[in-house]
Amino acid sequence: MTGEWLTAWDRSAGARTAAELFRSRFGAEPDGVWSAPGRVNLIGEHTDYNGGLCLPIDLPHRTYVALRRRDDDVLRLVSEREHAMWTGTADQVHPGADLGWAAYAAGVAWALNASSDLAPGVRIAGFDAAVTSCVPYGAGLSSSAALESAVAVALNDVCDLGLGGSDAGRAVLAAACVRAENEIAGAPTGGMDQSSSLRAQPGHALLLDTRDGTVRHVPFDLSAHGLALLVIDTRAEHQLADGQYANRRATCEAAAARLGRATLREIGAGAELEAALAVLSEPGDGEAQTTVKRVRHVVTEIARVEQFVALLDDGRVAEVGPLMDASHVSLRDDYEVSCAELDLAVTVARSSGALGARMTGGGFGGSAIALVEAGSVDRIATEIADAFGEAGFTAPVFLVADASAPADRDTD
Ligand code: GLA
Repeated sequence: MTGEWLTAWDRSAGARTAAELFRSRFGAEPDGVWSAPGRVNLIGEHTDYNGGLCLPIDLPHRTYVALRRRDDDVLRLVSEREHAMWTGTADQVHPGADLGWAAYAAGVAWALNASSDLAPGVRIAGFDAAVTSCVPYGAGLSSSAALESAVAVALNDVCDLGLGGSDAGRAVLAAACVRAENEIAGAPTGGMDQSSSLRAQPGHALLLDTRDGTVRHVPFDLSAHGLALLVIDTRAEHQLADGQYANRRATCEAAAARLGRATLREIGAGAELEAALAVLSEPGDGEAQTTVKRVRHVVTEIARVEQFVALLDDGRVAEVGPLMDASHVSLRDDYEVSCAELDLAVTVARSSGALGARMTGGGFGGSAIALVEAGSVDRIATEIADAFGEAGFTAPVFLVADASAPADRDTD
């Protein structure tokens, strides 16, 4: 096989590595190890902050957190990726604080304490945690949500929050993870990643309706259809905390307000969309043209999720390819969040025989996905790797995604 492949760690090995890191840095036994997956979104991109639909699956690649509860308010965090231990206290964790990567772990405790969903009198104090991960960082596969979600299920268990055993409880944990990311890490993302990591099911895609937070588990077993989902991490830099994501979100919210709607979800595709675009195209300047494109992407993308799910419900998974292709074109031309590396991965995947391909996640780099015949995974990956070499791009990294398990405890 050409190209670099990133296989997921075996879960017990991942848990052991986290526990060993904990022991070596803190000189004590953790209370346990918990892990949570990264995700890949099948379709429904940049819809989650517009009240729309999205359809992620959990990856077999997980972030492992060995954690021990403390009785004081001290937080100590280590990661195999960072040499230095992060040490602080709970009162240092607040919106506006510059906590670096610790925001994604400490922020979850802050958000849970700030939530009204904890039982009266319950408060999360300090903890020590050691983090290891095989979710690629900066690949648009939600390494940050995996860390938040692993910490959330760990705190749920060690503090007896009683939220891990039901979907309703997990929705509360996911909401806390989103607040950690939005308010403590300062990334204005929607809720897809954390919902996927906490609420998806193995063998299923998660149809998340972000208007009301409801989910439906849609059977998604590609191998039963002789298919596979190839994920191509383009290694092109992906950074959501910059202005591009926030700027698109603000454009969508302003457009919905101008149309007198709570969110763009309230606009139906077809005639309703055309009428909305006619309003938004005034006064005809560049800003209005940009708004038209952004809104067209969001509304048509939500419709594509509905069509994609209808095909899955009908057992016609091999027919979803054109929807993936259309999603990519819309993200590239209307939402303008693709890049040369993503476009090349998608183009070569298609010309090499993929049934459909698209960028996935926030964009501006990160990963693409291709739906392929199971027997052609290696050949298509090789053709993409060769094309990247010819274009002078950094070599991509590949993984194969099966719909895997959500955040949970690994060891006692
Ligand atoms: C990032 C965000 C998500 C979502 C996607 C785009 O992954 O974290 O909330 O908005 O981008 O679909």
